[in-house]
Amino acid sequence: MGTESEDASNSNAPMEISWQFDYLFDSDKLKSLYSKAKRDQWDAEQDIDWDLQVDPSRPLFGRDVMAVFHVPLVQRLSASQQATLRAHLAAHQLSQILHGEQGALMTAGALTHAVPDHQGKLYAATQAMDEARHVEVFAAYIHKLAVTYPMSLTLKRLIDLTLGADSWVKIAIGMNMVVEGLALGTFHNVLAVTECELLRRIMRGVIRDESRHVGFGNLYVADAIKAMHADEREEVADFAFMAIKLMRDARHRREPDPAFALVLDRSGIDRNDFYKSVLEMRASGQKVELPKDQVHPFKHLMMPALVRVGAVTDRSRKRYEAEGIPVIEERSTLERMETGAPPAMN
Ligand SMILES: [Fe+2]
Ligand SMILES: [Fe+2]
Repeated sequence: MGTESEDASNSNAPMEISWQFDYLFDSDKLKSLYSKAKRDQWDAEQDIDWDLQVDPSRPLFGRDVMAVFHVPLVQRLSASQQATLRAHLAAHQLSQILHGEQGALMTAGALTHAVPDHQGKLYAATQAMDEARHVEVFAAYIHKLAVTYPMSLTLKRLIDLTLGADSWVKIAIGMNMVVEGLALGTFHNVLAVTECELLRRIMRGVIRDESRHVGFGNLYVADAIKAMHADEREEVADFAFMAIKLMRDARHRREPDPAFALVLDRSGIDRNDFYKSVLEMRASGQKVELPKDQVHPFKHLMMPALVRVGAVTDRSRKRYEAEGIPVIEERSTLERMETGAPPAMN
């Protein structure tokens, strides 16, 4: 079955050529992040026990934390149908993680190219190596599952928007704040619920790396935004808004994402019946609450990270308001997770 997102694609992106002949580190924080990145490299071939068994027929997630399981039609399915759906959802989610890591790898390469100073280039190169290892480790894990899924259109659009941006600040916002906020939150959530020991070990290593990546976004981008001319700052704020809106719009799209629709098909669930049931659930006013120990990537990570670096301006705040997107400033979970510590939910 072919989908738009399954095809390998090429497109052009503008990129400044940025040489830097001042080989100095003048930020202690960035220097220590770079040193940590070098020291904490791990090797998917050597440090992961690939002999640990993965049973692709069993669900990878121990609890039904996904919103899908609140849809009435899904709740009416038999236990074996639910088990099939759970296995496909897990393969779908892990496939998105793998495709996202490929996007992160390309983005880190673009950052290495485009950031304007020596220390940023060296750090971004460590991130590129981290992402290469993540692609390697998730590709190897997914190989053990019986099924893989194409990239979701929203994730692809978000990463394409980021890779096509005309400045490194926008690339860092799209990647290190929006996409990696999503990734870091998802990884913590998977780690909290998975019963697969191999996946737990992989997630622990990846989370340690991703915490650095989110931290870099903050350190590096905040100063750059502060130093910008007001017009340029607004342009960056508009880009951040576009990235967030693209993601939020996906929640209300009329057409199902092809990759997710494939999950339904393969689980023997009729697409139309499913979406009818979702609409009925929404119309009844039933709200799906995430369990307390689950991270909400938008609320806990992305939005506070954007506010903190100054990527939300007074003007763009009005745009969020007009779209009904809350601007959240509370950042205790974000700050805790940047240190690599597990989230303390409030
Ligand atoms: Fe990664
Ligand atoms: Fe990353």
